[in-house]
Amino acid sequence: MSKLWGGRFTKDTNKLVEEQTASISFDQKLANEDIQGSIAHVNMLVSTGILAEEDGETIKNGLNTIKNKLKKGELSFSVEHEDIHMNIEKWLIDEIGPVGGKLHTGRSRNDQVATDMHLYLKHHTETIIELVHETQTAIVNQAGNHIDTILPGYTHLQRAQPVSFAHHLLAYFWMLERDKERLKDSMKRLNGSPLGAGALAGTTFPINRDAVAQDLGFDYVYPNSMDAVSDRDFILEFMSIGSIMMMHISRLAEEMVIWSSQEFQFIELDDSFCTGSSIMPQKKNPDVPELLRGKTGRVYGNLMSLLTVLKGLPLAYNKDLQEDKEGMFDTVETLEGSLQMLAPMIDTMTVNVDQMKHAVTEDYSNATDIADYLVTKGMPFREAHAVIGKIVLYGIDHHKFLLDLSLEEYKQFSPLFQEDIYEVLAPEQVVANRNSYGGTSQTEVQKQLSLAEDLL
Ligand code: ARG
Repeated sequence: MSKLWGGRFTKDTNKLVEEQTASISFDQKLANEDIQGSIAHVNMLVSTGILAEEDGETIKNGLNTIKNKLKKGELSFSVEHEDIHMNIEKWLIDEIGPVGGKLHTGRSRNDQVATDMHLYLKHHTETIIELVHETQTAIVNQAGNHIDTILPGYTHLQRAQPVSFAHHLLAYFWMLERDKERLKDSMKRLNGSPLGAGALAGTTFPINRDAVAQDLGFDYVYPNSMDAVSDRDFILEFMSIGSIMMMHISRLAEEMVIWSSQEFQFIELDDSFCTGSSIMPQKKNPDVPELLRGKTGRVYGNLMSLLTVLKGLPLAYNKDLQEDKEGMFDTVETLEGSLQMLAPMIDTMTVNVDQMKHAVTEDYSNATDIADYLVTKGMPFREAHAVIGKIVLYGIDHHKFLLDLSLEEYKQFSPLFQEDIYEVLAPEQVVANRNSYGGTSQTEVQKQLSLAEDLL
């Protein structure tokens, strides 16, 4: 019986059960965190006198040897030893002999695995914050080049009012800024140390939980050992933040797909971010934004899956909790991979300034401005709205846009129209006039850009 927990068993584990209950195929990703946690645990066991100093040194040397061997690919994971924690413990005992068996004093895999995952997410949350920052930088750089670039702004995907392209892009800067704030805030919850909670009830050894927490860079220890081993809120929180972030990425991706279509031609994605068709030689497909949009599904799915795993669990540890890992890894890898592609894709896209400009001259998106014009001449807005509605209808019937109508034609609808109507109708002017705080006027966008730059 070679299981580390085999003492009370009289039969070998069924092979299928062994395969299906093992987590080593995926939790091997926690190897470094597991060793880091074990070294901190040993340091504490020595400093509290629970473990002799020389045993502590032997164990730490053994753990470092394992870390190096793992890096060089010299060790192979075994399903027989179920998970990363027991694989490492088994290697340790093989490496340094029975003294390796002292490592698990005053500890359980339950507080150990929770600690590993806190460490793992702390590390990756920092990486993701950095990647969000890079994406925001790419957005700010493109926005800086396009304050004066005007395109139709849409509501209901119908042309609404012209806007500065920088303004449109910066909307995504602020979404990502909120995502970054949420990630930073979540660090508070990632910074609690479960280690020392034991299996569920604490331990009989005189451990020092604060010392281990400090050693591992945690700010505090979980005050309740049962909560410490069964809490997975920190993973749910990460997945929720990740879901919101992927939703933002997906919205931008969707716009990039639309903008790069033949029908819009507002942008062209760099060749290095597109792929071709195996049958249609003319195709250049926006696969990258499409995939970013598509990958949002798995990130939502991972969140729903873990919420469902957790909903009926009695305290404290249950094997169900092992199902927390694959989704967590997948969300981390999806977010990191997506952001890594997004920033350079924004950086390298070409903006078709002329095509955007052409679009705003061929629509009725300056209609609100004529209504506002009549309001400045004394007409109530609701009345002006009705008048302009009639003018738009007239324009559509006569195949004319608002800039093409003569003053005589305008005067048929209201005597308030004067020559100065044409001043408010030009797209540049339409944009410039929206100079309320947070509006799309070039001066407001310039202020907004400075604000964004200050935050980076
Ligand atoms: N592989 C396990 C998991 O990820 C580690 C904790 C196992 N604890 C236990 N009592 N079986 O959840």
